[in-house]
Amino acid sequence: MTRLVGYSGSLRKASTNTGLLRAIAELAPAHVSMDAASLAGIPLFNEDDEAANGKPSAVAALDAKLRAADGIIIACPEYNFSMPGVLKNANDWLSRGGSPFRWKRVGIIGAGGGQFAGTARAQYHLRQNLQALQAIVMPRPEVFITNNEEKFDAAGNLTDAETRRYLARWLEAFLEWVEKKP
Ligand SMILES: Cc1cc2nc3c(=O)[nH]c(=O)nc-3n(C[C@H](O)[C@H](O)[C@H](O)COP(=O)(O)O)c2cc1C
Repeated sequence: MTRLVGYSGSLRKASTNTGLLRAIAELAPAHVSMDAASLAGIPLFNEDDEAANGKPSAVAALDAKLRAADGIIIACPEYNFSMPGVLKNANDWLSRGGSPFRWKRVGIIGAGGGQFAGTARAQYHLRQNLQALQAIVMPRPEVFITNNEEKFDAAGNLTDAETRRYLARWLEAFLEWVEKKP
């Protein structure tokens, strides 16, 4: 059994990035479990709060899930040419007291609006950030989905067949990256 954990940098209910993770769960072969994690409830990092109260429960729960995973998939939206603050804030918390990303195989995917970068700029900032957390991020293939308003329904479910086929090929490559550790 290969255990994957996925989470999204968007907290909205109809998030297309969270929808990408649901699509991956549907595409996963039988020997793969796909657990959904969430960044909801993680407070803003404050070193004084950390000193007084330690890790918030939402951070501790996410940390435990990541440690138990063989592979981690992060769906990264693009906000103002970078990753959303909720994602960076979560990584700042997770970096404290020993990163759960150490030795972990990570895949980054993302969906954005219009014909622009498909979240590439945000993903490259996230890649840089994950260097600090000692993650082993898959170099390629990459997933830069453009025009998400046409490829997902109003609830954030992936409806575009070509994108789903591409995602299936990406998942195959990611599983090889996770399972075949040289
Ligand atoms: C504050 C904010 C900033 C954004 N900045 C960008 C941007 O720089 N580039 C981009 O392609 N889309 C940008 N968008 C559009 C998001 O990519 C789009 O809303 C996307 O659907 C968000 O992901 P989600 O569907 O998972 O919530 C921005 C959206 C918000 C709310």
